[in-house]
Amino acid sequence: MAKPSTRFCLVGVGRAGMVHARNVTRRIMNAEMTALCDANLDALKQAGDELGVTALYTDYREAVADPCVDAVIIVTPTFLHCPIACAAADRKKHVFLEKPMAITVAECRAINEAASQNGVKLQLGFMRRFSEGFLRAKAILDSGDMGRVMIIKSTGRGPGLPPPWIYDIGKSNGILAEVNSHDFDSVRWLAGSDIVRVYAEAANFKCPDAKSDFPDFYDNALVSLRFANGAIGSIDGTCPAHYGYDARVEVLCERGALFIGSTVKPGFSKVTVDDVTVTGKGTVYADAVQSWRDLFKDAYVSELEHFIACLERDESPSVSGQDGLQAVAAVVAANRSIQSGEPVTVTT
Ligand SMILES: NC(=O)c1ccc[n+]([C@@H]2O[C@H](COP(=O)([O-])OP(=O)(O)OC[C@H]3O[C@@H](n4cnc5c(N)ncnc54)[C@H](O)[C@@H]3O)[C@@H](O)[C@H]2O)c1
Repeated sequence: MAKPSTRFCLVGVGRAGMVHARNVTRRIMNAEMTALCDANLDALKQAGDELGVTALYTDYREAVADPCVDAVIIVTPTFLHCPIACAAADRKKHVFLEKPMAITVAECRAINEAASQNGVKLQLGFMRRFSEGFLRAKAILDSGDMGRVMIIKSTGRGPGLPPPWIYDIGKSNGILAEVNSHDFDSVRWLAGSDIVRVYAEAANFKCPDAKSDFPDFYDNALVSLRFANGAIGSIDGTCPAHYGYDARVEVLCERGALFIGSTVKPGFSKVTVDDVTVTGKGTVYADAVQSWRDLFKDAYVSELEHFIACLERDESPSVSGQDGLQAVAAVVAANRSIQSGEPVTVTT
């Protein structure tokens, strides 16, 4: 007998929300989108029309109470993640929560407690962990063949202008949260160790309009990292990077190095890596990857397939609320470091 489909409600039908919605309705087996929720009625109706979903809600409290929903995918602005995730868990809905998990460590704890008290599964949207190159690197590192990780460097640069709600660092934690959460999570995962200390510098080159109202806003950041196991590393972030979407990691080990990712669009075979020069106008020798939607296209499907499999088998998702909390803690520490000009210990 065929397994019953997991019935999803998507909360937040914006850029990333629609990636998940289209995957659920078009690419994933054993899943259906039974309800949609968004505070913007026009966007909600448009998404409903496209996806053929008629249960539409503008209030997330009503959406998570829908008895025809098993699990909620939360893709709203980050400052709403905590109340929506807790409301969903309280209604016994499983939660797939986009990164960053929340704004504060206390909020992350509240989400983890709500999930565990209500016996629901919680998975964070760190899709890099489901991407082929990252998985291959992790398997090599775990095999021990390369020896210990010594230095790990991660670059995360987003293509688009930051949405205005991230101008207020106090409300959003800035691009280190919105763009570089993925880097904070993947370096911790690949190093196999928590980040314990950070030192960060930041600057605003590209969004001068944000300066008058939000003097703390930055669009470029560089963070030095110390891991509990002794490894060291760095994360650099930029938004917008006019040449495209750039997610690359270098892991230097005792007996070799791993290089994950490329600026070159998949399938571009005319050049060697040495030939690639990326300019502000585009590319000189090769086409750069333009969007996270393209680079991690299949990983977005795989992460939801994993979530559904965990629900079906009653297993814990491999990307947990604790992983989300650790990334938020490191981002919060990095923002404190930017403000104080001092290294900051990561506290959870
Ligand atoms: N994993 C990834 O690669 C990835 C990529 C982009 C964004 N994200 C994350 O997804 C989240 C959303 O980002 P986005 O770029 O899609 O934002 P967006 O602004 O495009 O979409 C957010 C949507 O939430 C809706 N919304 C706002 N308040 C609401 C409320 N009270 N109830 C219901 N809906 C509400 C908005 O109307 C909007 O449609 C953020 O946390 C972001 O960091 C993750």
